[in-house]
Amino acid sequence: MKIELSIEYQIFESDQELEEDLQELLKASKEAVKLSYAPYSKFHVGAALLMSNREIVKGSNQENASFPAGICAERVALSAASSFYPNEKIMAVAISYHNSTDDSSTENILSPCGICRQSLLEATQRQQAHIKVILSNPQGKIIYLKNADDLLPLAFSSDHF
Ligand code: THU
Repeated sequence: MKIELSIEYQIFESDQELEEDLQELLKASKEAVKLSYAPYSKFHVGAALLMSNREIVKGSNQENASFPAGICAERVALSAASSFYPNEKIMAVAISYHNSTDDSSTENILSPCGICRQSLLEATQRQQAHIKVILSNPQGKIIYLKNADDLLPLAFSSDHF
């Protein structure tokens, strides 16, 4: 038996193609980039979550001289959201970056690492509602997905226990 998996996403050339609240969210993720602590990789990432109470929760990557102790922007934001607003749902996440060593990479649209995808999946399952995803590059190009789960097909989850 052969099974094919496919995901659907949209590419936007500018934030003007997003709904207004998602434009705001993307802006917040760009602000979060400035709060990144990334002296080792010099790759500064910002994530912003739109909560069901309309609050925006920001996170940025925080590195450490002991490299594995560092944490990605997405998981900083997810942990903050769960701590500050445990009863609210996450409606959407926006992710932005600035690479302070390599300006030539600004065309790449950032896509979350595997661990962050796993964390987003758990957040979706926990709240039993989809999380929209906005991925961006510094030039303003965007990938938009309706559901964060689509980033991690055939995922491991608590269903496997
Ligand atoms: N990083 C994030 O914050 N989010 C991602 O989705 C990818 C990677 C961070 C981790 C590390 O501080 C730096 O970017 C380089 O990998």
